Amino acid sequence: MKRVITFGTFDVFHIGHLLILERAASLGDHLVVGVSTDALNFSKKSRLPIYPEDERITLIRALRCVDEAFYEESLEAKADYVRQYGADVLVMGDDWEGRFDFLKDLCEVVYLPRTPSISTTALIEKIRR
Ligand code: CTP
Repeated sequence: MKRVITFGTFDVFHIGHLLILERAASLGDHLVVGVSTDALNFSKKSRLPIYPEDERITLIRALRCVDEAFYEESLEAKADYVRQYGADVLVMGDDWEGRFDFLKDLCEVVYLPRTPSISTTALIEKIRR
């Protein structure tokens, strides 16, 4: 069985999120998703996500293409998560191109193209305006 892992905040769930998860799932037999915690987001962006972590992970777990989800507590722990969940493939959006190549000894690393013209940040801006 080929196990795939991917990570993200998945705040204000949108089509770009669904498409990358479906494409990640299609690369193996089992998809595990690391959903970043509110604290991790706050430390990274100095703001909390719109949806709290328990709602974000509940939405992710409800998706047909997702087999398992856990809280990602540290951006530096990717290697530990890959080992812990026995992942054969790490999938990241191509906004991260090259940044996780150091994990190639541990698993296959695949960067998938982002869906154009949509992001959580752009949606929040649009709603604000
Ligand atoms: N993603 C994607 N296409 C988009 C937006 C996101 O494929 N248009 C992917 C990212 O590459 C990542 C995953 O969805 O692998 C989760 O991304 P996340 O950062 O949570 O979403 P964004 O919409 O990019 O959020 P933000 O604008 O806050 O950065």
